[in-house]
This record gives sequence, C-alpha cells and structure tokens, in this order.
Amino acid sequence: MDYNQVILITGGAGFIGSHVIRKMLIQYPDYLIVNLDKLTYAGNLNNLKDIENKPNYKFENIDINNEKDIQDLFEKYLFDGVIHLAAESHVDRSISNPGEFVKTNVVGTLNLLNVCRKNWVSFEDKCFYHISTDEVYGSLGETGFFHETTSYDPRSPYSASKASSDHLVRAYGHTYGLPIKISNCSNNYGSHQFPEKLIPLIINNIQNNKPLPIYGKGENVRDWLWVEDHANAIDLIFHKGRIGETYNIGGHNEWTNIDLVNLLCDIMDNRLSNPNGESRKLITYVKDRAGHDLRYAIDASKIQKELGFTPSLKFEEGLTNTVDWYLNNKKWLDNVTSGAYQNYYHQHYN
Ligand code: NAD
Ligand code: DAU
Repeated sequence: MDYNQVILITGGAGFIGSHVIRKMLIQYPDYLIVNLDKLTYAGNLNNLKDIENKPNYKFENIDINNEKDIQDLFEKYLFDGVIHLAAESHVDRSISNPGEFVKTNVVGTLNLLNVCRKNWVSFEDKCFYHISTDEVYGSLGETGFFHETTSYDPRSPYSASKASSDHLVRAYGHTYGLPIKISNCSNNYGSHQFPEKLIPLIINNIQNNKPLPIYGKGENVRDWLWVEDHANAIDLIFHKGRIGETYNIGGHNEWTNIDLVNLLCDIMDNRLSNPNGESRKLITYVKDRAGHDLRYAIDASKIQKELGFTPSLKFEEGLTNTVDWYLNNKKWLDNVTSGAYQNYYHQHYN
C-alpha cells in the first residue's frame, strides 16, 4: 500500500507514546506508523496489544543511543516526520542515576537530529517534533504561570537533560534549518502509566494496603492533564502547529499533592466499597524529594488560540476513569509490578 505519510514515533511503548500511537493509527489509517523503542523498564508492549497486528504499524526494538541502528532504520523507511517521545522520564530516578538521563535524553536526541539532518535530502514537508516538559522552566512560587517565553531554569537532572535536548532541537532548527516543533506539557495522568509515578503508585498501594508516601508536607502543586488530551494536542501540533514554534500544553488544573491523594483515596474507597476514610489512613509523610520543585502551572493560551486546543475532561471524571482502568486491568498492573511484562517482546517478536 502507498502510505500518505510515514511517521516515526520514538518511545511508543511508554505511557504517553502508546496513547499517541493508538490515536494516530485510528485517526490516520493511511499513515504508516513506526514505533522505535528500546523497551527499558518503562517500555511495555502490552500497552499496544490491541493494535500490534495492524498492517500499518511496525515495531522496531532500537536504542536511540545506537547511531548505526537509527541510520539503518532511516534507510529502511523514508520518514516524513518524527514525533520524539523516547526519554528517561522519572525525576526520582534522575536523582539517583543522572548519567542515564544525559545519555538518552541529550545524546539520544542529538543522534536523532543528526540522522534526520543527514537523511532528509530536502526539508520540505518534513517535521521533527520534540515532546518536552514544563519542568524545564523551573519552579513557580504561589502565583504566576509558565509561558512559552519563560526563561529556562531546570533544577533536577531530569529537567536539565530535557532542557538540554530542547536547546539542541532549537539549535538544529536555527543553524541547519531543520523543520522542528517543540511542546512543553504539564503532568499527565491516565491508563498505562508506570506505577512509579504518583497517581498509579497511590492506586496500586491502596489496592495492596501499603503506605501512601507523600514527599515533604504534600504542599507541592502540579497541573494535571489527561493523557488522551495530551495525545490530542500532539496530533494538533504535529499537523497544524507552525514550524520553529514552541507550544505549552496544560490542564489549567492545579492540585497540591495531598489534596490529590485525598481525592484518590475517596474515589478508591467508593469503588472498593470501603468505609469512608479507610484509604486516607494509609497516608504517610516521608522525606522530601531532593530539590523538589514547589509548583508548576502552564499558561496554555497560545495552543488554545492558535490551534483551538482545550482539555476535554474534568479532573474528577478523568481520575475516576483512571482508577476504574487500573481496577479493571489488575493483570496489567500485576505484570508490571512483578516484572513479567519484560518477557513480552521475546515471546511475541523473537
Ligand atoms: P515513559 O517513561 O512512560 O516512556 C518512555 C519510553 O521511552 C519507554 O517506552 C522507554 O522504553 C523508551 N525509551 C527510554 N530510553 C530509550 C532509548 N534510549 N531508546 C529508545 N527508547 C527509549 O515516559 P512518558 O511519561 O510516556 O513520557 C514520554 C515523553 O513525554 C518524555 O519525553 C517525557 O519527558 C515527556 N513528558 C512526560 C510527561 C508526563 O507527565 N509523563 C509530561 C510532559 C512531558
Ligand atoms: O511536569 C511534567 C512532568 O511530570 C514530566 O515531565 C515527568 O516525566 C513526570 O514524571 C512528572 O514529573 P513529577 O515529578 O511531577 O511526577 P511524579 O508523579 O513523580 O510526582 C508528582 C508529585 O508527587 C511530585 O510533587 C512528587 C510527589 N510524589 C511523587 C511520588 C512518586 C510524592 O509525594 N510521593 C511519591 O511517592
């Protein structure tokens, strides 16, 4: 079949990537979607089980740090666009192992930029779209928002590595004319998120009657966005965003961690038919994260005005749907917490 576009999505076996792949396959059946993923602990092909046999979907088990493998991939497929999500994504892991974050997030991104620059004979109608985070802007006080023009001030090894990759992507746009786009998004939540991140961790711990760790006083604020809304925004930016531009994406939905965990406890009590207040008893204040950013909040007016993006779901509804997904997909969670999901690739692709 002649495909309208051939798109490379990196990190497609991860949390956000799997939602983006599913959305693209459904919305654009005339595209060939190639998923490049190293399958680190965060990559889980179970996330894509429902679409893995589609003829216009291909999986490639590649590390973005392996330049030869990426070059070979660009010789195998003539890509029209790249949506780059592959990254080490967890702040706590970046504090204990920063080197891995520099390797994948900075050098891996550089490798992809180089291979695009080298293999795209003409840059016309091409697009390198880099998915980034609001954490590059640093930490807010009690008021104010991150704008696209806010100066970078990354404060964790994770955000420093993402900031470096953003700078490299912009530099390749400026210096070589590579057609690039960047978006910086706030905290995502939804199905298929690895249970090291706050929301699935709390759901999993309540199910297993384990303590619910709250860093510091629980007063840090995050701006939460449903992952499907992030995937919608990525689709809009990839297809309609302007080359060379940056777009902030957020939910306009700020919660302190303790308020959020209390709400999750109440939803879980309701779903598990627990007595009121049962799950809240598990809340345990623990040592704060080193360098813990106080508050993130996104001004998303640019993407709203230019591309018509607004989040579709109210948070309470999205959170309830998310709880229901984890409760209905206990096998997924058990596979992830036991490590069994890591056999999937060998069983299905080797
Ligand atoms: P994730 O950790 O769930 O998934 C990352 C994916 O990248 C995994 O499938 C992993 O196997 C793959 N990967 C890691 N290193 C790789 C390498 N060297 N080569 C190839 N593949 C590799 O992450 P996520 O939460 O889905 O985040 C995806 C992207 O979105 C990241 O770039 C992250 O910085 C960004 N982001 C995430 C959030 C959020 O709230 N989760 C918010 C804003 C931006
Ligand atoms: O803002 C976007 C970023 O959001 C993304 O770029 C990152 O990839 C993503 O991991 C996320 O980073 P956070 O550090 O904000 O997410 P996390 O789920 O790890 O933590 C959310 C908040 O909850 C944060 O203030 C730390 C706190 N926390 C987290 C965990 C795991 C706890 O209090 N206890 C916990 O056990």
